[in-house]
Amino acid sequence: MTQDEMKQAVARAAVERIRPKLENDTIIGVGTGSTANLFIDALAEVKNDFGGAVASSEATAERLKSHGIEVFDLNSVDQLAVYVDGADEFDRHLHLIKGGGGALTREKIVAAVAREFVCIVDSTKKVDLLGEFPLPVEVIPMARSYVARELVKLGGQPVYREGVVTDNGNVILDVHDMEILDPKGLEQQINNIVGVVTNGLFALRAANVVLMGTESGVETLHDTH
Ligand code: 5RP
Repeated sequence: MTQDEMKQAVARAAVERIRPKLENDTIIGVGTGSTANLFIDALAEVKNDFGGAVASSEATAERLKSHGIEVFDLNSVDQLAVYVDGADEFDRHLHLIKGGGGALTREKIVAAVAREFVCIVDSTKKVDLLGEFPLPVEVIPMARSYVARELVKLGGQPVYREGVVTDNGNVILDVHDMEILDPKGLEQQINNIVGVVTNGLFALRAANVVLMGTESGVETLHDTH
């Protein structure tokens, strides 16, 4: 199986997983990226079985709408049954690094509201220790240099993602060489730097389940302490 075929398989597996729970008024959260896009395409086949979706980015909102799936403002929704999204890395505790596509802040907000977070990945995303993928940090533009200096103090090598402005009008620093031994602690520490909107560690709100596409099919993974 190619990486694309693995992504396709987990996208379909996610639809099959949530399908029995869908009701007419169910609103689901939908993530951003190539795997999430395949999920949206598969979700379109059952679009008459649920109420609509909250999108984690403008791009996702456009793709949902193009399939005729209604997109809701999160402020008009009390709860989300489930959030489905990809990741750039995950570990055995289902802690994630996300934000390769720059949508980390809205992704984190939608994930926070959802009762269940189903993460859909191919097997190349599995790591023993998070941090080989540079950790994205969304920053208020005027704080970019200050935040970069603070990230260096934490042991990282921040690189400005040139030419990228997030859906929230901010910039992204990708932090290389960060030793992530305590994902929850580091997530809080980085978020405490003035000027940081949020960072791409999803450890305080980890995934509840990871569907991982492999050569031999889709595996369902839970946190193993
Ligand atoms: C976007 C993300 C994506 O989930 C992450 O980058 C994985 O993307 P893909 O499914 O294309 O590999 O966090 O901000």
